[in-house]
Amino acid sequence: RYPSKVSLFEVGARDGLQNERAVTTADKLILIDQLGMAGLKRIEAGSFVSPKWVPQMADSADIFKQLNKRSGVVYSALTPNLKGLELALDAGADEVAIFGAASQSFSQRNINCSIEESIERFIPVMEAAKAKNIAVRGYVSCVLGCPYEGDIAVSEVARVAELLYKMGCYEVSLGDTIGVGTPVNARKMVEAVAEKVPVGKLALHFHDTYGQALANILACLETGVRVIDSSVAGLGGCPYAKGASGNLATEDLVYMLHGLGIETGVDLPRLIEAGNTISQALGRKNGSKVALALTE
Ligand code: HMG
Ligand code: MG
Repeated sequence: RYPSKVSLFEVGARDGLQNERAVTTADKLILIDQLGMAGLKRIEAGSFVSPKWVPQMADSADIFKQLNKRSGVVYSALTPNLKGLELALDAGADEVAIFGAASQSFSQRNINCSIEESIERFIPVMEAAKAKNIAVRGYVSCVLGCPYEGDIAVSEVARVAELLYKMGCYEVSLGDTIGVGTPVNARKMVEAVAEKVPVGKLALHFHDTYGQALANILACLETGVRVIDSSVAGLGGCPYAKGASGNLATEDLVYMLHGLGIETGVDLPRLIEAGNTISQALGRKNGSKVALALTE
């Protein structure tokens, strides 16, 4: 019933650190290197967005220029527009991602345009990336709820996911941005999207704000999804719920998957070391329950 193998997409250095107090470039570089050492092969290392909107990511060019590239590891970046793409390519990103939403209000507040305008804006990004042979991933936010609009229709999630896929995204990551989903809803949403986009081209990006992410992932693995996004040490707060936790901790995900006999390629003790090191730099408690349980 479950797959023998799952591909992990590590977003701690981007989705995590964009929502934490700023750490130094050196601390980020150590984190990214430790993630690679732990066996993660897909690492989102930064984002080329307006530094006024997200100051924590302002050093992304330095990160990509200075990171110790490990063979077999893909380092990717968020690029909302052509300017972001140019900066990402110039800095040496291996892969980029465009990010849209299934909610109009969220799209407006996150990238300052409507869903339709965002798709228009992504077309030249896709063309320029293709011309350079750079793979483009797509994100859809608010797939299980929106901080401004509440419930979101699965048909709208499927519509936006299909737009990104048809436009040329090699994979579409479904973001439960505020972590409000529950297992049956999550599985139904993935099933609806899988009618428009091959399930093998989908990824799960479930925030853990309400403690539901692992349960939701387990339910969705039954649909055939084989790619999961997570953030080491559960890095990342939630800007829409003050004091709440944000991303699903990679350590907790790896522990569950290994317990199910699913291969991830990740060395859990090394991953925990990476999470503990960045948590110390941030002066916060490690957000992974597994890391807390396994750290002396
Ligand atoms: P805008 O203000 O509409 O854009 O912002 P603009 O083109 O009018 O430019 C305004 C200013 O930004 C100009 O600078 C541009 O040069 C600059 P100024 O003249 O004022 O000094 N600018 C840029 N600077 C650096 N890099 C760029 C760039 N583009 C413009 N690429 C924009 C539109 C998209 C830029 C803005 O809204 C923005 O940066 N948004 C970022 C939002 C963001 O990063 N959100 C978090 C990531 S998404 C997420 O976390 C969800 C996800 O995890 C999935 C999930 O959980 O659901 C992926
Ligand atoms: Mg996210």
